[in-house]
Amino acid sequence: MKTILVTGAAGFIGSSTCEKLIKKKYIVVGVDNLNDYYSPKVKLRNVNEIKKDPKFRLYQTDIRDFNGIEKIFAQNKIDKVIHLAARAGVRPSLEQPRLYFDVNVNGTLILLELAKEFKVKNFVFASSSSVYGENKKVPFSEEDLTEDQISPYASSKKSGELICRTYSHLFNMNVSCLRFFTVYGPRGRPDMAPFIFTDLISKGRTIDMYGDGTSKRDYTYIDDITDGIIGALEKDFRFEIFNLGNSDPIPLKNFISIIEKNLGKKAKIKKKPMQQGDVLITYADIAKAKKMLGYNPKTDIEQGMKKFIEWYKKNNS
Ligand SMILES: NC(=O)c1ccc[n+]([C@@H]2O[C@H](COP(=O)([O-])OP(=O)(O)OC[C@H]3O[C@@H](n4cnc5c(N)ncnc54)[C@H](O)[C@@H]3O)[C@@H](O)[C@H]2O)c1
Repeated sequence: MKTILVTGAAGFIGSSTCEKLIKKKYIVVGVDNLNDYYSPKVKLRNVNEIKKDPKFRLYQTDIRDFNGIEKIFAQNKIDKVIHLAARAGVRPSLEQPRLYFDVNVNGTLILLELAKEFKVKNFVFASSSSVYGENKKVPFSEEDLTEDQISPYASSKKSGELICRTYSHLFNMNVSCLRFFTVYGPRGRPDMAPFIFTDLISKGRTIDMYGDGTSKRDYTYIDDITDGIIGALEKDFRFEIFNLGNSDPIPLKNFISIIEKNLGKKAKIKKKPMQQGDVLITYADIAKAKKMLGYNPKTDIEQGMKKFIEWYKKNNS
């Protein structure tokens, strides 16, 4: 049985990834500092079930704590790493750029350094569609230039990719960088649009709509994302970058209508100007991930939001 270190294990994508790894008979060593970017109670609830499994262990440690993380590597024979811990969220990164770089870049460097020291076989890094910035060419391909990130979050993710590439080159490490496109689904982050809109509309409160409703996001269902992550984990590429998206961008107005339909309630909408850091469209070309990872997203936005809203009603109302 292989042992996988998962950072950000109590988060949205992390907890879902750990759950799937355990089902696939991996031993999972989770790391999360349970910070209060959103409620630590929500994060603990995310891992409530898997914590009962003897194949799962959670360390409450900060990835910037070199000695703390080194101890975890020393105590567990780690075969592979899935590095998901990060300050996520575009807009707050404009307020706290130093924190974003500290966690997302220095934290990643510490993990790469220890992965090198402990001879880890494969390192999977969570990057983001935001590295494409205001890319005009759609769909976004891994070969497109990514030189114009428009938020500190996005440039911290691009910097993470660069340091991953350097470590792969210098130390013959296998590294895959996965560019996730707006991930949603059960346990979805409470600071993201799917959750915020669902929450406010269900309570009869007004939602802020930034822009005229035509901006588009390539929403990707959590179960498809975790399949892609485990696909990369099991392949051991020297260095590759993959888009993990749904390749079906949805206009904001349509997205709101899907929520209205599922809740049986009309949204009260307040229009606001587009916010700094936000891009007009994300749209993934997923041909490479399909070919090399066997990635094949199965859940469209209608099915996915239905499942998300069922989860929301059970857990949050
Ligand atoms: N959700 C998306 O749509 C999306 C899109 C693109 C990229 N990503 C990336 O995927 C990863 C997971 O995102 P998520 O949506 O699950 O976010 P999340 O906030 O739910 O999960 C991140 C987890 O990392 C932990 N963490 C943060 N800083 C830490 C630190 N210093 N030490 C230890 N743990 C720390 C947090 O407590 C949290 O549980 C992140 O790297 C994020 O940037 C997410």
